[in-house]
Amino acid sequence: MKALALFLGGLAACWGMFAGCASAQVQAQAQPVDVLHWWTSTSERRAANQLSAYLGANGVQWRDAAIPGGGGMAAVKVLKSRVLMGDPPDVAQLIGTTLTEWADVGLVLPLNGVATRQRWAQNMFPTVMELVSYQGEVIAAPLGIHRINTILFNRRAFARAGLQPPKTWAEFELAARKLQTLGIKPLAWSDEPWQIATVFESVLLGEAGPALYRELIVQRKSSAWMDPRVERALNRLRWLRSINGDTPREQTWTDAARELLVGNVAMMIMGDWAKGELMAWGASPGKDFGCVVVPGTENMHLYSIDTLAMLVNSRHREATQEKVAELVSSLPAQMAYNRIKGSVPVHRDIDVSSLDSCARDSWDTFADPRSARVPSLAHRMAADESIKDAVAQILWRYVTDPRMEVADAQRRLAAVIRAPGAER
Ligand code: BGC
Repeated sequence: MKALALFLGGLAACWGMFAGCASAQVQAQAQPVDVLHWWTSTSERRAANQLSAYLGANGVQWRDAAIPGGGGMAAVKVLKSRVLMGDPPDVAQLIGTTLTEWADVGLVLPLNGVATRQRWAQNMFPTVMELVSYQGEVIAAPLGIHRINTILFNRRAFARAGLQPPKTWAEFELAARKLQTLGIKPLAWSDEPWQIATVFESVLLGEAGPALYRELIVQRKSSAWMDPRVERALNRLRWLRSINGDTPREQTWTDAARELLVGNVAMMIMGDWAKGELMAWGASPGKDFGCVVVPGTENMHLYSIDTLAMLVNSRHREATQEKVAELVSSLPAQMAYNRIKGSVPVHRDIDVSSLDSCARDSWDTFADPRSARVPSLAHRMAADESIKDAVAQILWRYVTDPRMEVADAQRRLAAVIRAPGAER
């Protein structure tokens, strides 16, 4: 990878230095930009189309290279193989720690010029800027902030049961029992490992609180994984998988959201892209469904921030890539895109009254200095692809194999979650 990076880095270095490169760039601007991403559900597709139309109206053509698969498992593999074959896309949905790893080996075009011109440091949240900065360089264009610790609930199901959405696990348990007596499954569930990990980290944040969560997920202190609060979160995870009383199966997150929409299930714990999907299907927050936070996570924002990175390649598209970064991170593009996507803009100064109620709560919590903002492991904000995958696999084994002791799961998690820089 390093040799390839140096080769690609060399190509990038010619940018702006030689007349030949400059003229190649003029030609290249007329070419569409290749955009690799995993936004393929109805709302994701619409959000991507919105960006593509916005770029189009500003003279940049978007050539779509979407790779289906929730959570980006397949897309990240395809992206890696394209880079290894020497054919990286111009633009890629590259998020979290992968960004810094790739920047480290020179695969990502620095965007300092755009960031300075657009005053990103002044206009965007510090947490967002931290995520897209590495060794003094800005390395990606931020798009939107998703909130993971979200429970979406079907308003009709709750009204039928005469229930309020749960604020505590005790209320959640009561609601689950009542819903079951009415023949409504309490919780949408999927055995896909990334979805299990998504539910787990929200439950963990609620049980552990932000300080221990940071020790576990950000500092990756192995010993902290034996804490009784982790044990409680793991027990809760198994319980959540069992409450429908049926045989849990793997299903896509969109199929799970569909069950919520039609009212077969009453709740879903998922990043708020699921809210975007319900809205794309015609449901409205406030009327058809609502959002509350996972019990124990009030005033906490478990975030996953979507970013587009501009990849170094031999096609001399740097000027166009910078233009893409400038356009997608601009306020009008952000407002339109995030409304569809279910996330919220990364800008600090927006008209929150134009956001739906779930988005407003997410944005307010993220913006409030008194809130705890913590990164998602399941969505690559805190650790690399291999740690994230190993954690998801252990959680999958743990919930699907009743013989695995909770302490055993804790030991396995402690073993794969090593501190950044620790020997593996
Ligand atoms: C991404 C979202 C996407 C979701 C489901 C997350 O990792 O950040 O943009 O909608 O996966 O595919």
